Amino acid sequence: MRRIAHISDLHFGRIDQRVVEGLLADLKALPLDLIVISGDLVQRAKPSHFREARAFLDRLPVPYMVVPGNHDIPVYNVLLRFTDPLGNYKRFISRDLSPVHIDSEIAVLGINTARSLISDFSEGRMNRAQIARVQEVFGPVPETVFKILFTHHPFLPPPDAPGTRLVGRHKLALPALESVGVDLLLAGHLHRAYSGDIMTHHTQVARSILVAQASTATSTRLRNEANAYNLITVDHPRAIFEVRSWEGAAFTGGLVSTWIKRDDRWTLEAQDTGFRPVTGAA
Ligand SMILES: [Fe+2]
Ligand SMILES: [Fe+2]
Repeated sequence: MRRIAHISDLHFGRIDQRVVEGLLADLKALPLDLIVISGDLVQRAKPSHFREARAFLDRLPVPYMVVPGNHDIPVYNVLLRFTDPLGNYKRFISRDLSPVHIDSEIAVLGINTARSLISDFSEGRMNRAQIARVQEVFGPVPETVFKILFTHHPFLPPPDAPGTRLVGRHKLALPALESVGVDLLLAGHLHRAYSGDIMTHHTQVARSILVAQASTATSTRLRNEANAYNLITVDHPRAIFEVRSWEGAAFTGGLVSTWIKRDDRWTLEAQDTGFRPVTGAA
């Protein structure tokens, strides 16, 4: 079994410090193996914001993997944006833009989808070399190992907003992900928490690929949702997603979705809020 905290869109520079402390306390209290961070570590890609993000990363209780988001690229500093868009990210956060972790139960790969040269640089994309890397990394990994790809930009829209812009070249990438048996896609960017199967939206995909989108963990840039992150338990043949949300004083468990893999297809086995009514004194 492996337990992974999937956190996203921290936006240091525009955070609620109480939420940051609550998140760290929650992460410390859980039996975690790994933390996956899917981009937007800072609000503006300035050294002062990155320093705050670095201080946060240094306090994480278990190993973490991280990729940048569009906010980790300068917007207003045009010179930096075009000459060295990820300079500060590399200096303060990580030089590795495509981290990998592989053990006997999980294989995790991050891909940088943030871009500074496309017309709307809040949007992102994958390129051919990155698609080839996904195949190269996951190709040799046995079927029994749960394969997770994480990016900043999403592959699946929210259920109530099917027209949401997705990561660029997803149509090119998805058959490649399918061919190497990716089990789960993790992303953020939309500041909304939801999960599902890629097949429900991308009808050209014949193989089930799970998706878990994280809300913003610590930012005050909320989109009608509480700060939250995903606690993911990989327990073959099940994958369990729990949305843990900030409730004003602490992060607490919310919706739990249990998926089970049968004959190469993920099906939702159970979904509940995790709410247990108090039944009176024992
Ligand atoms: Fe964000
Ligand atoms: Fe973003």
